[in-house]
Amino acid sequence: MNLAAFKELIKQRCGLTFEGVSEAPLLSSLQKRIAETGAKNAPAYYAMLLSDQHEFHELVCLLTINETYFYREPEHLQLLVDCLIPRILSGKQDASLVRILCVGCSSGEEPYSIAIALREKYGESAASLFMLAGGDIDKGALEKARIGRYTAFSFRSLAPELRERYFTRHDKWNWSINNDLRHQVHFHHLNLLDAHYPHELQNFDIIFFRNVSIYFDLPTRSIIQRHLATLLKDEGYLIIGTAETLANDLGILNLVEEGGLFYFAKQHPGPAKPHLKIPKIPKPPARHIGVADRKLSSPAPIPPSASQPPTTPERATPLQHLPPPLQITPVAAGIDEALRLTLEKRYDEAMTILAILLERQPGTSAALLLKAHILLHRKDYAAAEENAQLALNTEPWSTDAFMLLGLAAKWRDQADDAVKWFKQAVYARNECWPAHYYLGELYRAANKIENARRAYRVVLQLLSTQQAPDDGLAIIPLGLPVSEVRFLCTHQLAKLDDNHAVIPN
Ligand SMILES: C[S@@+](CC[C@H](N)C(=O)[O-])C[C@H]1O[C@@H](n2cnc3c(N)ncnc32)[C@H](O)[C@@H]1O
Repeated sequence: MNLAAFKELIKQRCGLTFEGVSEAPLLSSLQKRIAETGAKNAPAYYAMLLSDQHEFHELVCLLTINETYFYREPEHLQLLVDCLIPRILSGKQDASLVRILCVGCSSGEEPYSIAIALREKYGESAASLFMLAGGDIDKGALEKARIGRYTAFSFRSLAPELRERYFTRHDKWNWSINNDLRHQVHFHHLNLLDAHYPHELQNFDIIFFRNVSIYFDLPTRSIIQRHLATLLKDEGYLIIGTAETLANDLGILNLVEEGGLFYFAKQHPGPAKPHLKIPKIPKPPARHIGVADRKLSSPAPIPPSASQPPTTPERATPLQHLPPPLQITPVAAGIDEALRLTLEKRYDEAMTILAILLERQPGTSAALLLKAHILLHRKDYAAAEENAQLALNTEPWSTDAFMLLGLAAKWRDQADDAVKWFKQAVYARNECWPAHYYLGELYRAANKIENARRAYRVVLQLLSTQQAPDDGLAIIPLGLPVSEVRFLCTHQLAKLDDNHAVIPN
């Protein structure tokens, strides 16, 4: 398929660019939509995209990378509640709400994190002090945000006590954000490249625009930042992801450093406004100021200094606090995304991400294990085993790998091998109750009654200790339902006790 025309159309309409490794997901998304729409061929599908806005959005939903989680870059939340909000509140002349917008808010973790941080600081009165909005181009992500239901992967950076306080648990994998916070955030469909944004989205005190601009080239970032600047009040602030800040210092807003963190202020931080107490940062030595230095910290081409406004003494210069080099798709983020897709059974998309990761870093055990997990679901046992074995080369005591090898052997009716692998799993992590359970099943089928009893009892013991017991697995989402397994073990034990014989399946 000739991708050039598709790439151009997508870039022009929503800014997303697909070069190098990201061509593969573009290709597979196009193939998926062509198949699902029944378009005759790629040119016919292209014509459809030109005339059918709905179809364009269907495609975009497949192309966006929605990676996000609660309390991502928590230092920005600290900056918000400790510095920016107190400053805004102290400068307020009326009782209007402080308005905060997240653009590229994905499935809502970012605006809800802000709501939580504000609730932590201002208690119940947060509801009457702040107005929160989120916008994203991906309608599917927005729908999730509105529903507010999240899996464990969204909580990797959130303190458990905050999760307990602001979420209601459904089962091992799912929590819902509590309604009072959910109702505080309003979500809007928004394409950052549209000439007009939804009319409600204006007059903001603070805009968060984090981990979105990395998908856009420099001219697109510039167009978007100009538009975002018009949504800000005169004394408003724009917060961009730490690794992206330098690549967004485009001379449109003023870059400010405070406590080692960077953000943009619409108003020049100077003495004119007494409540703006942004410290002046001394100019760094001349040798730090070159464009070359900036290039080091960002893979995106930084415009020549001539296109930047002259640096004034008040203008903060970030070079003494260079953030770590920008990584557009860090392996960890890719794994998270692949895991999320796997949990949603979007196996093709997960496999595409895993292929890219493994091409970059072939021995990454988490990627190999997830791949093996998906292959197992597809009943490609040989390939699943091969990938699990490769994972063992990097991580010789991987419970996940033992578990996958055990399941592959079990499903191939190789009971002895399966027992061997499940035993390895419990040897590596005795907490691995799924391995004990499968051992129980295999022993029962082999009429090894005492072994089966012992295995089922261990499962019951492990499952009785906590509400959401640790299954000892690092990455693969086996999805065995705890309550069902508990019931089955109890049931099988009772039957074994009654019969002292093999129980038919
Ligand atoms: C990686 S997520 C970032 C989520 C969140 N801001 C965070 O930092 O955790 C990027 C989001 O930007 C959205 N996005 C990409 N292009 C967009 C556009 N043209 N207009 C609006 N949102 C866009 C994607 O749909 C995706 O949800």
